[in-house]
Amino acid sequence: MSAALAVEGLCHAYDGVPVLRDVSFTVAPGEVVAVVGPSGAGKTTLFRCLTRLTRADAGAVRLFDVDLQHVEGTALRQARRDLGLVFQGFNLVRRLTATQNVLVGRLAETPAWRVLLRRPSAADDALAAACLQRVGLLPFAHTRADRLSGGQQQRVAIARALASRARVVIADEPVASLDPSSAADVLTALRSLATDDGRAVVCSLHQVDLVAGFADRVVGLREGRVVLDVPVERFDPARARALYARSLDELDHHPEPLAPERTPGRP
Ligand SMILES: Nc1ncnc2c1ncn2[C@@H]1O[C@H](COP(=O)(O)OP(=O)(O)OP(=O)(O)O)[C@@H](O)[C@H]1O
Ligand SMILES: [Mg+2]
Repeated sequence: MSAALAVEGLCHAYDGVPVLRDVSFTVAPGEVVAVVGPSGAGKTTLFRCLTRLTRADAGAVRLFDVDLQHVEGTALRQARRDLGLVFQGFNLVRRLTATQNVLVGRLAETPAWRVLLRRPSAADDALAAACLQRVGLLPFAHTRADRLSGGQQQRVAIARALASRARVVIADEPVASLDPSSAADVLTALRSLATDDGRAVVCSLHQVDLVAGFADRVVGLREGRVVLDVPVERFDPARARALYARSLDELDHHPEPLAPERTPGRP
């Protein structure tokens, strides 16, 4: 199956300091890829490049047929409609209700103020309700976003991605600072975007114990390099320890190499 998202040889430096070094991986439709790695490994920088919030110094980010690195203006805006973002901090419009935030996602081209002023149609209301129901938030449909908990806000962002036509959903640490039960709810909702809707999901996580049961594949980043690309069954505790090892010496003593591996049958 061709990739929904293909990252090819991505390199980026801040003030001459390399942060992403030749990063490549792919995500297929219906697949969940977890990006893990120590603090400072470059996960957020990578995710900013995936959305073109940052333009990388070199390499390609292919979203289906479009190289996001090399489009501008209308073409960039159109390509971005294929991206659903679940980012902490600048996720939701705080003063809009959960329903209104979901509809901002459906109409990516419609500014928030228009959603606020316009009375949603019955069809819009029904769609928002169905998406909020999927993430277990129907009782909060008319609650303002800034009155929801962190986990509930993340789930509204997932409902927004559900209501949109985004075929690729990118989540940067969607469960950081959530309690285990809220984290499980958020990851279940993200997983369902892939399993039930066939969307591609890329998600960075700090808690490696949450990877099993959530992701199909694990991409490990360390010092800006992909040092691991394995099916989730092969992301065992030893590999996780090695990825987070304090020194590269510990990595060297790891019994199995951490070099990227490809899933058979995938490009
Ligand atoms: N805007 C910036 N200007 C300069 N350096 C930056 C900038 N953003 C990030 N960096 C640096 O780039 C490196 C990678 O940061 P990044 O935020 O991508 O890591 P991360 O893997 O997301 O870390 P964490 O797990 O802590 O969120 C770090 O050394 C960081 O200090
Ligand atoms: Mg980060």
